[in-house]
Amino acid sequence: MKKLIAGNWKMNGSIASNAVLVQSLLEGTAASQCLVTVCVPAPYLAQVQALVAGSGIDLGAQDVSQHESGAYTGEVSCAMLRDFGVRYAIVGHSERRQYHGETDAVVAEKAQRALAAGITPIVCVGETLAEREAGRTEEVVKRQLAAVIHTNGHCISEIVVAYEPVWAIGTGKTASPEQAQQVHAVLRAQLRAASAQADRVHILYGGSMNAANAAQLLSQPDIDGGLVGGAALKAVDFLTIIAAAQ
Ligand code: 13P
Repeated sequence: MKKLIAGNWKMNGSIASNAVLVQSLLEGTAASQCLVTVCVPAPYLAQVQALVAGSGIDLGAQDVSQHESGAYTGEVSCAMLRDFGVRYAIVGHSERRQYHGETDAVVAEKAQRALAAGITPIVCVGETLAEREAGRTEEVVKRQLAAVIHTNGHCISEIVVAYEPVWAIGTGKTASPEQAQQVHAVLRAQLRAASAQADRVHILYGGSMNAANAAQLLSQPDIDGGLVGGAALKAVDFLTIIAAAQ
């Protein structure tokens, strides 16, 4: 399958800097053979939708509401995202779990809401350093994915999974290719047990992926792409990761 490289801009960007970044990405991906998406802050969806229109770069969001519509101040619905041509939405990022109290059940509902709207949820799972050191990595990621499988049943082959060890996010500490592959294989087995189509599911690695380490990570058999934070804000670095994926 084609690899998927997704940039998660997090809470970064401005109208001026987005225009410069996306212009460089458009030039650098014109002949790209892999799937590329940028998950931008909600206020910039319209801007980036216009910039990437007609290109091979897909538009993504960083979160969705688990509710359909109504009295949920500050939330953004899937229907609103669809209005702006959004193809992917990150759900259950560890920063949302940690700072906004998102539980496995909420993440599963968000994934369900996205799927129902025709948006591909990029479901994030990952253990903290304390959990890894306690030997609980497998248990934690399996519990997180199980909630989404339970709620979404046979649609599970329509999701994207991102394994993002919390200790590797924004720290410059990357999981080694072997460490990442080991967890990806666990997630693949869990998906296979739930769906005959499990091999279609992209399982992305995220956590300090950069221009220097991407090729090795992406060469692992169950690493189907990357969810890139800091390095997605620099066109040269993001394009180097995209090149490493093909
Ligand atoms: P960094 O690439 O900055 O470590 O962020 C990873 C991430 O959280 C992507 O969602």
